[in-house]
Amino acid sequence: MDTLRVGFAVCGSFCTLRRAMGALEAVKAAFGDVTPILSEITAGTDTRFGRADEFVQEMERICGRPVIRTIHAAEPIGPRKMLDVLVIAPCTGNTLSKLAHGTADSSVTLAAKAHLRNGRPLVLAVSTNDGLGAAARNIGELMCRKNIYLVPFRQDDPVEKPTSLVAEFGLVVDTVRAAMEGRQIQPVLLGAPGDTRSC
Ligand SMILES: Cc1cc2nc3c(=O)[nH]c(=O)nc-3n(C[C@H](O)[C@H](O)[C@H](O)COP(=O)(O)O)c2cc1C
Repeated sequence: MDTLRVGFAVCGSFCTLRRAMGALEAVKAAFGDVTPILSEITAGTDTRFGRADEFVQEMERICGRPVIRTIHAAEPIGPRKMLDVLVIAPCTGNTLSKLAHGTADSSVTLAAKAHLRNGRPLVLAVSTNDGLGAAARNIGELMCRKNIYLVPFRQDDPVEKPTSLVAEFGLVVDTVRAAMEGRQIQPVLLGAPGDTRSC
C-alpha cells in the first residue's frame, strides 16, 4: 500500500452516493489514511437514495474518523497541511461552479481552497445533469487549472439527458495515483455509457 493522506469529499449528487462509498472503500484500501468530508447539503438531506445519517456513519466506519462537515472543521486542512491529495467524488454542478469562481462557502469548497493553497493535487469526479450545459464552462476552466485533475467521465444517458456527465468512479484510485505524479490520467473522455447513469 502507498502511504498517502487522502481527503475524500462528497457532494450532493445523491444518486451516485452508493458508487462514491465504493470508491471511498477502494481509496481507503489503496492509501490507508483517509479523511472523510461531506458538504453541508449532503450531510443534512435525506433523499430516496438514502438517509443522511447513514452516509455519515458509513463514511466514519470506512475511514475510522469523524466526518468533516463544517467550514470551521475544514479550515485547518490548509495551515496544518493535513492532506497530500483531496478527492471530490461526486462533485456537483453547484460545487464545480464555486470552485471555478473561487467561492468557498461550504465545507467542501473551503477544504479545496485550503488544500490548493499548499500546491497539492485536487481530483474531481463530476456528476451533473448540466455537465454539457451550464457546468461545461466550469469543467473546462477547472481542467486547465494548475493542480486540478479529472476522474475520466462520460455522457451517462445521451438520449434522455444529453447534457449529463458522470465520472467513472472505478477510476478514482488510478486518477489519484496519476495526479500524484503530476499527470492527468487518459483518456479523460470515456465512450459508451456503462451502468453509470446518474439521477
Ligand atoms: C435527489 C437529488 C439528487 C441530486 N442529484 C444531483 C446530481 O447528480 N448532480 C448535481 O450536480 N446536483 C444534484 N442535485 C442538486 C444538488 O444536491 C444541489 O445543487 C446542492 O446544492 C449541492 O450542494 P453541494 O455541491 O454543496 O453538495 C440533486 C439534488 C437532489 C435532491
